[in-house]
Amino acid sequence: MADKFLDTPHGALNALIYRGNTMKNRQLKFALASPLAFLFAVGAPIPVIGFSLARSVIAAPLQAPVEQAPPESKKKKKIGAAKEEKAVEFTPANFAEIQKLANDRKLTPDDLLAAAKTYQPSGRHDEYIMFASGGHSGQMFVIGVPSMRLLRSIAVFTPEPWQGYGYGVGEDVLKEGDIPGQELRWGDTHHPALSETKGDYDGEFLFIGDKANARLAVIDLRDFETKQIVKNPITMSDHGAAFVTPNTDYVIEGGQYAVPFGNAYATAEEYQKAYRGMVTFWKFDRAKGRIDISQSFALELPPYWQDLFDAGKLASDGLIFGNCFNSELATGGIELNKPPFEAGTAQRDMDYLHIIDTKKAEAAFKAGKFEKVNGFPVIKIETLIADQILFFAPEPKSPHGVDVTPNGQYVVVAGKLDPHVTVYSTSKIKAAIADKKFSSKDSYGIPILDFDAVMEAQVELGLGPLHTQFDDKGYAYTSLFLDSAVARWTLGGEYSSLHPEQPWKLVTKTPVQYNIGHLCAAEGDTVSPDGKYLIAMNKWAIDRFFPTGPLLAQNFQLLDIMQGGAAMPVLYDSPIGVGEPHYCQMIKADKLHPWTIYPEIGWDPQKQAIDPLAPKAGQEKVVRNGKEVEVFMTAVRSHYFPENVEVNEGDNVTWHITSLERTMDATHGFCIGGYNINLSLEPGEAATFRFVANKAGVYPYYCTEFCSALHLEMAGYFRVKPAAK
Ligand code: CUA
Repeated sequence: MADKFLDTPHGALNALIYRGNTMKNRQLKFALASPLAFLFAVGAPIPVIGFSLARSVIAAPLQAPVEQAPPESKKKKKIGAAKEEKAVEFTPANFAEIQKLANDRKLTPDDLLAAAKTYQPSGRHDEYIMFASGGHSGQMFVIGVPSMRLLRSIAVFTPEPWQGYGYGVGEDVLKEGDIPGQELRWGDTHHPALSETKGDYDGEFLFIGDKANARLAVIDLRDFETKQIVKNPITMSDHGAAFVTPNTDYVIEGGQYAVPFGNAYATAEEYQKAYRGMVTFWKFDRAKGRIDISQSFALELPPYWQDLFDAGKLASDGLIFGNCFNSELATGGIELNKPPFEAGTAQRDMDYLHIIDTKKAEAAFKAGKFEKVNGFPVIKIETLIADQILFFAPEPKSPHGVDVTPNGQYVVVAGKLDPHVTVYSTSKIKAAIADKKFSSKDSYGIPILDFDAVMEAQVELGLGPLHTQFDDKGYAYTSLFLDSAVARWTLGGEYSSLHPEQPWKLVTKTPVQYNIGHLCAAEGDTVSPDGKYLIAMNKWAIDRFFPTGPLLAQNFQLLDIMQGGAAMPVLYDSPIGVGEPHYCQMIKADKLHPWTIYPEIGWDPQKQAIDPLAPKAGQEKVVRNGKEVEVFMTAVRSHYFPENVEVNEGDNVTWHITSLERTMDATHGFCIGGYNINLSLEPGEAATFRFVANKAGVYPYYCTEFCSALHLEMAGYFRVKPAAK
């Protein structure tokens, strides 16, 4: 059916009638825009047409149940690609109009250029996709770059009704992350990590840590849904999570605030003896798409507050690097006139860069050289020293970011109380370990490498350096929290030939608004960064946007880093009003291959396989076995089958629903008011939820996702018959 058929109201209505469940959503929206269809959709009486429409749409799934999957040739068509490459020509009238617009809206030529660099015409897709942590919203955000359009959120640690996560479905995943005696229903998401193959993002999986509760989540990028939450068994907070090794063999979770392991109790006076830091190596089973807890282990670390981690790559493959602050072992106590943490953790000029040999750590784990805490293997500090698994290098001062250059030859540490970034050479680190060039040991006996033996360069950038990203032109980019700026500086070594400036020198700074934390360049922490775009993840927005009461949006600012040298303009301000994101990663969009419908009808997204119990069309039923009632329901535009379900008060109800849809974006919701149930049934999805029918009465159920002109009619009654008194 040609699309022009939709150009008249009559055509639109006919399309509604005949397309039934094969209708594309965008066409439906078009159809609804026509007056006649709209009147019908809102319930105006159009008896004759209405009857045929209703009958046809209801009958459609039975007569023509599914649309076949698109042929290969169609699938390969690049979504969002421009129709044809043709030079764009401006007429004098165009120029006059642009001139007038610029005057009317007070836009400079730079403003117009920035708009041209970021604007995506309707229907055109973004070149990059950014996965941003959602901070204490417990979610993640998927944002297109350069348009900065929010495409969706991904519920991770927090229930979210639109995605049907935690309101009947998704509860098993959330429960996995509970601790004994306590449901945890939010998280503080910090560092997303895309899965990597040979140090490049492969677009398959996404990981993120929950700082508040020391948890890690696995998201499958076939459907952008959370599949697993693991609770760290030994500690209660993390920060260096998640970071992956170059082939995603391990997902790294570094701790933050030291505690006695295994939920034990100890006083502040026992801090040095009883409190411990940690880093956990979670083994990732790519075929299963899950962390394999049985092959995972942790390292016991001194109770310095470990911060961020990064995995070595190429030249430094096999090592991981972490940093820490509070090598002072401060325990706070402002209430006792002791130095508060902010001062107590900042007394020393140097903290410790942690250098960990992952191969030796894995060997120690496999050799059984560990103790178990809460049933989880922990390699003790003595073993880390004896087996040469852990070394320290001095790092200035209260460091925050630790970032490995794309070639793996350097590690950049930004000390937030030092105006420099310190660059370590990984080959010098290896040589110093081999030659035992130690300056001393810490109080736990861990050898400290000689600073001058491992340091390559220090580059003065400005106040409050935090995190560093890289591009394809030999530049590094560091966020300066106190300066509210992004610094571009030059790398040395083999990068020197890529840029015209001297190595290890500040090139330029761009002010950002305001208080930048992390920053993110396109593929900026892989072995092959793209450059092009950089996102400044600003913690404050202050005056940038309309004030939405005293709680204001954060501000993601997009910077153009395509040119080298001093040019690094801000292109766009993007308010983030749904959480306080910490870090993000930006992947080339064409590396992602999400499903647009589930592969087969009756798909269980949790298992990524057909659910054998998924109700099938024509086999819908309600089965009673004593007080156990099992509902087998299907959903398709625009009805549920069955439309009346009756149980007795006190029955245990297991309810299965299969979406029979095969059309992209034909999502149905399913809610039962009064029972806290709401699902999102994407095309082909099968869902199961269980509850006790403990409240007698009549509870309408209906579709919560506007799915068709007869969406309002997609409803039914759940009746709970009162128990005999
Ligand atoms: Cu199905 Cu609305």
